[in-house]
Amino acid sequence: MSPVADADKYDASQFQSSHVGKTTSGSFTVSDYNKSLALYPEYLPTWNPNQKFPSYTFQEYHDRGLLADPQLSNLFPPGGDYNIRRISPKLGSEITGIQLSQLDSAAKNDLAKFVAERGVVVFKNQDFNNGGPQKAVEFCKYFGSLYKHPTSGSPEGFPELHVCFLGADQDALDNVFKDRTNSVSWHSDCSYALNGLQLTLFSCLQLADSGGDTLFANSVEAYERLSPAMKERLEGLHVLHSSLEQANNNKQAGGITRRAPEANIHPLVRINPVTEKKHLYLNKEFGRRIVELKEDESDYLLSFLFDHIEKSSDLQIRVRWEENTVVLWNNSTTIHSPCVDFDEPIIRHAYRISVMGERPVGDLKYLNDVNYLQEKYTELGI
Ligand SMILES: [Fe+2]
Repeated sequence: MSPVADADKYDASQFQSSHVGKTTSGSFTVSDYNKSLALYPEYLPTWNPNQKFPSYTFQEYHDRGLLADPQLSNLFPPGGDYNIRRISPKLGSEITGIQLSQLDSAAKNDLAKFVAERGVVVFKNQDFNNGGPQKAVEFCKYFGSLYKHPTSGSPEGFPELHVCFLGADQDALDNVFKDRTNSVSWHSDCSYALNGLQLTLFSCLQLADSGGDTLFANSVEAYERLSPAMKERLEGLHVLHSSLEQANNNKQAGGITRRAPEANIHPLVRINPVTEKKHLYLNKEFGRRIVELKEDESDYLLSFLFDHIEKSSDLQIRVRWEENTVVLWNNSTTIHSPCVDFDEPIIRHAYRISVMGERPVGDLKYLNDVNYLQEKYTELGI
């Protein structure tokens, strides 16, 4: 049996018939065949069956974006040799001429604010990949503590990296479409976590000439498009997010679980502490129900909201990857989806690092309040 989920619909990076190798320390890794094709072996995923992480508890979080210069002049100094292009008016910017690894603290604060404002920021020609996993980890640590995924593979010694490795196997591709007609699955990474994953770095190491784009949707714009009456209806509602199905599917397929599954209640309408803008916070993969409503009512409303954000192409963008492209996104104000559209088996090797942000709140007066929503947890027995 493969050591990772070959039928896990919750994370396309886990569709791996190629993960059948072993490291010298006994961890699972990719097959020798795929290892021989990998251009960045130090980033290959490994799964240590003996590695266990404790459950997360509440963490206070102060977004670096709150320390930014309002004009972002540390990141974008006047007259500097860089270029900024908006991918769409509503979402995403593409930057050339700035090397992320060389930014000082003041520029990183501006960067945090810029990502909060634009949702998705694409940086071309970055130098992280040849610096080994440590370089990107050190960069991300400035913004907060880094999330360790409960099931995904990571390079030995770097549990902060969530590695996405699609092996050069026809089976890996076939599995994606075994029970589905498309590979699109909109989600916010690990929205079941108590402290939401916030600033996220994603970098491609090895990829094909085309294929494997990532789709992003703007949850702020999705909220703002709603009528005043609908906004009023959504105010004060909360969604139960759970990793139980992800964990069960992973376990069923022989995967490794490092942390017990968790469920948390988050506001359906969340507010970003940097922009102070409200946005929808829900996704089909981990959002289970609106806890204040009856099940049928919840299904009805969630179905509308999922459709609204997933089908509104006019609040979405599509990011095309190139080697050494690094994308930073805000994992709360956007949702995203993989796009598996390769014609033939290829290696696609990438990694993600996620900063743990604030515990999601619907009102900034509850920011960093450890007792927020306690009565709802008690009511639901969580
Ligand atoms: Fe994701």
